[in-house]
Amino acid sequence: MSVRLAVFASGGGSNLQALLDRFADTPHAKVALVVSDRSGAGALARAESAGVPALHIPVSGRPDADVARDTIDALAAERIDLIALAGYLRLVPAPVVEKFHGRIVNIHPALLPAFGGPGMYGRRVHEAVLEAGCCVTGATVHYIDERYDEGRIIAQWPVPVLPGDSAATLAARVLEVEHRIYPAVIDAVARAMAGDRVAVPESRLTATETFQAGDAVPPDDQHIIAIARI
Ligand code: GRF
Repeated sequence: MSVRLAVFASGGGSNLQALLDRFADTPHAKVALVVSDRSGAGALARAESAGVPALHIPVSGRPDADVARDTIDALAAERIDLIALAGYLRLVPAPVVEKFHGRIVNIHPALLPAFGGPGMYGRRVHEAVLEAGCCVTGATVHYIDERYDEGRIIAQWPVPVLPGDSAATLAARVLEVEHRIYPAVIDAVARAMAGDRVAVPESRLTATETFQAGDAVPPDDQHIIAIARI
């Protein structure tokens, strides 16, 4: 089975790009659809350049039911198995979450459950981390449910906060990690869905253990500090 992945993004789409690059030529998974709530999103342009169907589904001012119907129709038309949110700033409609239960993941630029929830996106996350005086932040990949940033955590990777950091320097350091952890985790989830036993740990394991039999994980991915059961 080759897992057909949809990526939802509202912004520039650098995480989308990391996924497009990772799955450009893999037998077990491919990016089959990109959805955005913004017609001018860089993510849609990236999808088009990669030859992937790109769809604008407007959300503002529309009834939830209409957005849900359009989204479900688009996912069905492309026979999507798995959804990755990559900077998607909208709540995924409840009927979509229900239909894709356990098959929607998100990346958040902090160590959840800290610094998550409504309004916690982009620069605000990193400003809050700095204001709190944290000396460590990171990236979290988690399943999503009907609430922001509350679904079960799959993987986390810590990132140091350095003296003199601004929200911008911190965001850039976290983003680099996001570009590595997200493709690695989606790869593991897709392998698990495709029936590859290697990627299905029964309990929390380090990334090194989880991915040992995989092929493309650089050694320092051992810094992923927690991988939950997929
Ligand atoms: C990333 O920091 C991601 O964690 C968050 O939104 C940002 C998206 O950036 N959910 P990009 O559009 O992938 O560059």
